[in-house]
Amino acid sequence: MSQCRVCSAALEPVIDFGRMPIANGFLKDPKAKEFFYNMAVGFCPSCLMVQLTEAPAPEMMFNDSYAFFSSTSRAMAEHFRGNAEEVLARTSRSSAPFIVELGCNDGIMLKNLAAKGVKHLGIEPSSNVARAARQNGVNVTEKFFNAATAQAILKEYGPADVICGSNVFCHIEDINSVFAGLAILLKPEGYVYFEDPYLWDIIQKSSFDQIYDEHVYYFSGLSVRNLAARHGLELVDMAHQEVHGGSMRYYLKRKGVQAPASAVAEWIAKEKELKIDVIDGYRVFKSKVDVICRDLKALLVDLKAKGARVVGYGATSKSTTLLNYAGIGPELIEHISDTTPTKIGRFTPGMHIPVKAYEDLVPGGVRYVLLLAWNHKKEIMAKERAFQAQGGKFITYFPAVVME
Ligand code: TYD
Ligand code: ZN
Repeated sequence: MSQCRVCSAALEPVIDFGRMPIANGFLKDPKAKEFFYNMAVGFCPSCLMVQLTEAPAPEMMFNDSYAFFSSTSRAMAEHFRGNAEEVLARTSRSSAPFIVELGCNDGIMLKNLAAKGVKHLGIEPSSNVARAARQNGVNVTEKFFNAATAQAILKEYGPADVICGSNVFCHIEDINSVFAGLAILLKPEGYVYFEDPYLWDIIQKSSFDQIYDEHVYYFSGLSVRNLAARHGLELVDMAHQEVHGGSMRYYLKRKGVQAPASAVAEWIAKEKELKIDVIDGYRVFKSKVDVICRDLKALLVDLKAKGARVVGYGATSKSTTLLNYAGIGPELIEHISDTTPTKIGRFTPGMHIPVKAYEDLVPGGVRYVLLLAWNHKKEIMAKERAFQAQGGKFITYFPAVVME
């Protein structure tokens, strides 16, 4: 029985996915030896944190060949420009505010502040994306954030007005040490915000592909409120985001600085409606996930039997979970189209589907596209109107398998 990383209580099992490769571990050579681990999710009945029961060492994921660059979609660039504007607006009354971002990736958010001469620091352990951030004019340190790093930053730069992170808090296994670091580095009146895929969206849509090695935690207002309280912090606001298939932005302050906004109680009530606070909610989730996998595979087998060409769209990290758990390989999906230079010419983790450069969908005679980058559905559908106009179909699968 594994233990909760936050409070040490025994975890209750949610789903065991079996052997899984590293989600972003695209292979140059499909015959190369691959690293596998057992991927399973557990629910803590005490502090309500949902988490992986086993997480591969961070060095396995966030290293010099980390294939994830944030700036791959226009909508994401827009989203992070918006985040930077919000930070500027909220700190406009502080003199010379200092902004710290954990996991600044290629600088998609901080470059907007750097361009305005705002004092900032990005913390990014993956050296290849950290380099990209520097090229974008961002001040970066290549470290993992924890209490010791927070002490060092405090000494060198002073306390932070804002500490933030997007799609990074849920990556860090020792989350108690991150929160200890926040409590060290934050100004008395400063605030923390972070956003990650939201458990409520995952349960509501059955979007289990958010579950993979990098995502150690699946946060909710309920679990974040408990976690913050352990470190003298308080969840004071929540704002739902469309990115990554439904994310939640959590705002924290030091305890007692600000009364929580009504959004906190409202979202927590919605979480309880979905039974995120009891194991029963997760039993329903598991059965829905298994139905989606069965239906999707049956559809692809049927299309293949009819001789139809099917390709994937977007070699996402999350598709590694879907493809491996449902058992969908190159015999069902010819290739996956992707615009990311570091993924093109490689093979998907585990299932070894070739990743190819983006080509116009219309001329090739492809009739069916499995929309693996479903979180960019709006942007992709708009770009691929001609494909649908000529009878092409997108296959989507959350909350149920459909062709549109
Ligand atoms: P991303 O949204 O980052 O998902 P994950 O966190 O699961 O990796 O990945 C989107 C992928 O889809 C990325 O590899 C780029 C690719 N993509 C395209 O190929 N074409 C597009 O039009 C868009 C929007 C994304
Ligand atoms: Zn716990």
